[in-house]
Amino acid sequence: MRDKITQKTFNPLALEKKIEEDKQGMAYSGEGEGESERLAYIETYGCQMNFSDTEIVASVLKEMNYGFTTEESLADLIFINTCSIRENAESKVWNRLRSLRQAKKQRPDLLVGVLGCMAERLKVKLLEQEKLVDMVVGPDAYRDLPRLVSEAGGGQKGVNVLLSREETYAEIAPVRLNTNGVSAFVTIMRGCDNMCTFCVVPFTRGRERSRDWQSIVNECRDLVENGYKEVTLLGQNVDSYKYHDEETGENCSFAGLLEKVALIHPDLRVRFSTSHPKDITEEVLYTMAKYENICKYIHLPVQSGNSRILELMHRGYTREWYLNKIKKIREIMPDCGISSDIITGFCSETESEHEDTLSLMKAVNFDYSFTFAYSERPNTPAAKRMKDDVSEESKKRRLQAVIELQNIHSKESNLREIGKIRKVLIESNSKRSTNDFCGRTDQNKMVVFPKKEGLNFGDYCLVKITESSSATLKGEICV
Ligand code: SAH
Ligand code: SF4
Ligand code: F3S
Repeated sequence: MRDKITQKTFNPLALEKKIEEDKQGMAYSGEGEGESERLAYIETYGCQMNFSDTEIVASVLKEMNYGFTTEESLADLIFINTCSIRENAESKVWNRLRSLRQAKKQRPDLLVGVLGCMAERLKVKLLEQEKLVDMVVGPDAYRDLPRLVSEAGGGQKGVNVLLSREETYAEIAPVRLNTNGVSAFVTIMRGCDNMCTFCVVPFTRGRERSRDWQSIVNECRDLVENGYKEVTLLGQNVDSYKYHDEETGENCSFAGLLEKVALIHPDLRVRFSTSHPKDITEEVLYTMAKYENICKYIHLPVQSGNSRILELMHRGYTREWYLNKIKKIREIMPDCGISSDIITGFCSETESEHEDTLSLMKAVNFDYSFTFAYSERPNTPAAKRMKDDVSEESKKRRLQAVIELQNIHSKESNLREIGKIRKVLIESNSKRSTNDFCGRTDQNKMVVFPKKEGLNFGDYCLVKITESSSATLKGEICV
């Protein structure tokens, strides 16, 4: 039963797990034929794309006949899949690598590799720390792992941080690391061409490229055949998905792809992340409205509520444009859940420009926001051309104001749910009690409710919402 996978704490269903500081070890419980001698341990930090990449890495390692463990002390190979988005995301990884130094001293055969965005950004620095890592592997180099692991095993450093214009890992079947077999991530594109001035992603993940739609549809179809009920289509900017089929001459946009995935099975829920306010089209909104199984939820990061700051960020829209988009979304889908990312204290942001972010939040009423104090990233356009001149104290204070306002809005948004009957996909047991299920509504709100006989993970049920807090809803299954 080599494919039976158990996972420690990460719930890949929860979009909230986008939080960069999160990490996860993974394991297969392996027994029986083909038992491999070598065991790998992988820990993942960063966004959903990174978690999805870890599934690609697991697939490549499985081909190399590695088994997996959640016990780092049992591993012959330890990979840390890393994130560079903010300074503290990188500090965590440095600390983690230092903590592994002792293990490496005690077990000279142990191989440690850094994967992902930090590998790309810090290749030289990682290698200079002689004793810390044996491999440095960028996000486009995972096919090269057999060579790199073998080189590292032979005492050389295994290094490949080449970024590709083509790599989409299209035909590599990810090894699903989730526990419940209900929900899966499907990467539809890689890289990003937007060059938001604060952002390191275009440098760590390279040029934007879209995966061919047929391989995406095939992967989703396989998931359905294996009992999955929800896919989240992933990309840094899904709205700029475009694929030109050389054979048929057909062009496929994101709206077209959404439709193709939605048509696979009416019981397959379709989610996606992340949308970009400048690129999300009305066609996408109408496609969402047309199909019951495309979840009515959009994560639409605004970053700032002030047009001058948005321009400095090179976001490609103004405050008014963003507010119009929100209006359009609500016209077409009045019940759509909307969340955002917000950065406080970007270069030269004044108090009154910060107030604009708060007033935009009030105008929109986001159901949820991920909020961050600006963290300058070396070599980004902002680091090169602008001064990181808002004091740490102001960044933090502004962040606190944004968080407090969001908490009020989240609470109100949840209160509005009370009395409503929502279709929920049962995802797992509640963390607090095995007498309760939990699952999400179409609008991406987590609901906890008492179990009912005959229902299990992966089933849909109608739940009447009875209680709410700023984080979760409680409810009862209605017959
Ligand atoms: N591609 C997605 C998100 C990428 S990173 C998008 O464009 O929305 C996720 C979030 O991290 C960003 O939306 C932004 O809010 C935040 N972020 C990125 N770089 C940052 C930085 N240098 N400092 C603080 N927050 C940052
Ligand atoms: Fe970064 Fe902007 Fe690309 Fe998002 S769209 S990944 S914020 S450059
Ligand atoms: Fe982090 Fe790289 Fe994702 S920088 S947010 S892991 S794309």
